[in-house]
Amino acid sequence: MATIGQDIDQAQTLLRSGKLVAIPTETVYGLAANALDCNAVLSIFKTKNRPTFDPLIIHTDTTEKIKQWVKHFPEALEHLSNVVWPGPLTVLLPKKDIIPDMVTSGLDHVAVRIPNHPLTLSLLKGLDFPLAAPSANPFGYISPTAAKHVQQQLGAYIPYILDGGPCSIGIESTIVHVENGKLQVLRLGGLSVEQIEDISQQKITLSLNQSSNPQAPGMLKSHYAPRKPLYIGSISAFLEKNKDQKVGILSFKTSYPEHKTSHVLSPTGDVLEASKNLFLCLRELDQSEAEVLITEWVPETGLGRAINDRLRRAAHIEE
Ligand code: TXA
Ligand code: MG
Repeated sequence: MATIGQDIDQAQTLLRSGKLVAIPTETVYGLAANALDCNAVLSIFKTKNRPTFDPLIIHTDTTEKIKQWVKHFPEALEHLSNVVWPGPLTVLLPKKDIIPDMVTSGLDHVAVRIPNHPLTLSLLKGLDFPLAAPSANPFGYISPTAAKHVQQQLGAYIPYILDGGPCSIGIESTIVHVENGKLQVLRLGGLSVEQIEDISQQKITLSLNQSSNPQAPGMLKSHYAPRKPLYIGSISAFLEKNKDQKVGILSFKTSYPEHKTSHVLSPTGDVLEASKNLFLCLRELDQSEAEVLITEWVPETGLGRAINDRLRRAAHIEE
C-alpha cells in the first residue's frame, strides 16, 4: 500500500525518478507524474484505467514556468489566470513540442493550472518540470477529496500519497479556453461562471458536453459516478414510491433524520459548502447499505451549476 505522509522531499524524489505520487489540491486529489516523461505519463493512464484519448491537465507553480512550455498565452486567459491563480481554473494554451503528445492526447493545446494548496505549491516549487495530474480515482468513478479515498482505490498501485487534508472546494477546476478572442467554458467547476464574467468583463459562453466531439474527448456524460443507481428529483416522492427498497438520500439542505442513510450537502443552503461535501457524501452513500440513491438539484447559481453538472453525469442523464 502507498505511504501516506507530508514528506515533500520524498514526493519530489519519487517524481524525479518517474514514479506516481497522489497530491492534494483545493479541488480534488490528483494522480501526479512528470509530464515531460512519457513513461511516467503512460503509467498514469494505466493506473487509472483511463483511455489515452482523454487528455491530462499539467500543474506548476508560476506563470514564468508555464511560458517555457507553451507558444503563447492569449491576453484574455493571462488576465483571468493572473487574478485566479493559484486557484480552481484550468486554461488551454498552444503547447510547445517539449510537452509530449500523450499528455494532450494528440491535441495541439495543453491544459494548464496552478493549484492552490500550500503543500503542493511547495512540492511544485522544487520541480523544474510540470506535473500531469488527473483526478486520483479509477476512471469514471467519484473523484477523491481526501487522502484516504486515494488510498482505498489506488493505494495498491502507487508508492506515496501526499496528505493535505480534505479539499477545500471539492469539485474539479473550471476549464476555459479562448476562441476568436472570446472566453468559453469547457467544463464547469470550482470557479463559477459569474466570477469569470466579473473578472473578464465579458459574457461567457458555455461549450459543455463535448463527449461526441473528438476535440475534447474527456467531457464524457457518464462520469463521477457511484456504482449504485442514482436518481435526481423530488426526494419525498421517490421515498413514497420506493418503500420496499433501501434508499440512500443526498439532499441539498433538508435533513431526513428518520432515515438511516442520508446526507445533507449544506444545512444552511450554501453552494460552496455543498460542493465541498458532494463527492464525499456520494462516496459514503455508495459504500452504505442503500440499494438505490436519490438526490435533488441545487440552485443553479455560482458553484451550484457545477454541482448540478456533476449530479447529471453521476446519474448518467443525457442532455
Ligand atoms: O481540478 C482539477 O482540474 C483536477 C486536479 C487534480 O487538478 N484535475 C482533473 O483532471 O480534474 P481530470 O483528468 O480528471 O480532468 C481533465 C479533463 C479531461 O477529461 C478533459 O476533459 C480536459 O480536462 N482536458 C485536458 N486537456 C485538455 C485539452 N488539451 N483539450 C481539451 N480538454 C482537455
Ligand atoms: Mg477526473
